[in-house]
Amino acid sequence: MAKKFRRIGVLTSGGDAPGMNAALRAVTRAALAKDVEVMGIYKGYKGLVHPQLKRFTARDVSNIISRGGTALYSDRCHEFKEEEGMQKAIQTCRENEIDGIIAIGGDGTFRGATDLSIRGIPTIGIPATIDNDIASTEYTIGFDTAVNTAINLIDRLRDTCESHARCNVVEIMGRNAGWVTVEAGIATGASAIIINEVEFDEDKVISQIIESKKNNKRNFIVCIAEGVPALLKDPQYSEKFAKRFQEKTGIETKFVRPAHVLRGGDPSLRDRMIATQMGSEAVRLLLEGKSDLVVGVRDGNITPTDINYALKLDRMYKGTLAEGDLDSYTAEQVAEMKAYCEKRREKIRNLYQIAYEMAH
Ligand code: F6P
Repeated sequence: MAKKFRRIGVLTSGGDAPGMNAALRAVTRAALAKDVEVMGIYKGYKGLVHPQLKRFTARDVSNIISRGGTALYSDRCHEFKEEEGMQKAIQTCRENEIDGIIAIGGDGTFRGATDLSIRGIPTIGIPATIDNDIASTEYTIGFDTAVNTAINLIDRLRDTCESHARCNVVEIMGRNAGWVTVEAGIATGASAIIINEVEFDEDKVISQIIESKKNNKRNFIVCIAEGVPALLKDPQYSEKFAKRFQEKTGIETKFVRPAHVLRGGDPSLRDRMIATQMGSEAVRLLLEGKSDLVVGVRDGNITPTDINYALKLDRMYKGTLAEGDLDSYTAEQVAEMKAYCEKRREKIRNLYQIAYEMAH
């Protein structure tokens, strides 16, 4: 059988995440091992619209498995959202004889991938974002490292809180999802966790902490996810909460926003492993002639999902479905999607419940 793929492209787009480099390396090495050339595309889709590509050898991805960030850089590309920009991107693929693309990133990256594939360039997506907020996969590259970074920071805060009998309010990234916050909160024994997925009552949180202070507890950590509605309304909400907390509890309270610190750093074992497995699988699927798939984790296994299905599932989970989005699915499929979303919601609510029990 004639080999269909002679050369593939790889890009990273959207917010960077630790482990993106490990995925880039895996894609490159898996392709080279099958005698397929690799073009590294710089700055995400921008590198296709304004051509910035380099033919990658194994040397180009040497010594990056342990590095945070992305060696291909990342950027937003508004032009790629317009037909003219997409056509330029397709032209770049043709001129560089790119037979298929592996796109590493989040949901925006996958939408871009479908724009390429409907114009004739096969694509496979690899989920990478610290937020773990892509509904079609149980895991996204970067999450484990980000949570470990948060844990490390909070553990240090706890040490000093204990010495001074203080509280630290920590605002944690994660876009609209509370996964980083809930796992970091559980793993550091936070006194309270505030996430988007579970309603919360500020006064209740405060009175619970006053109770635990009566039991001579000296250190208090409150983790707030950046996606909670109060914060979306008022970006200063967490600082103001810290002030109110101090006034009402009498506990000296500091505020910390680690922000992008969670996005950097050396990837953990889990991120290196998953990135390598996903990268290798993405290449296998592409060279088999598959397209429009996202490689994810389902029931603990690396499993591909149809990219359009993945995007719709994601919108369903996030409540952003547009009219007609589900028209091509049967009632049975829609019911299955709903059940899947509910299971995922339940998973985070259960984690929250555990965090709550541990704090009392
Ligand atoms: O998606 C990753 C993420 O770090 C989110 O947690 C955060 O809300 C967002 O990106 C920040 O985006 P930017 O890097 O554009 O400030």
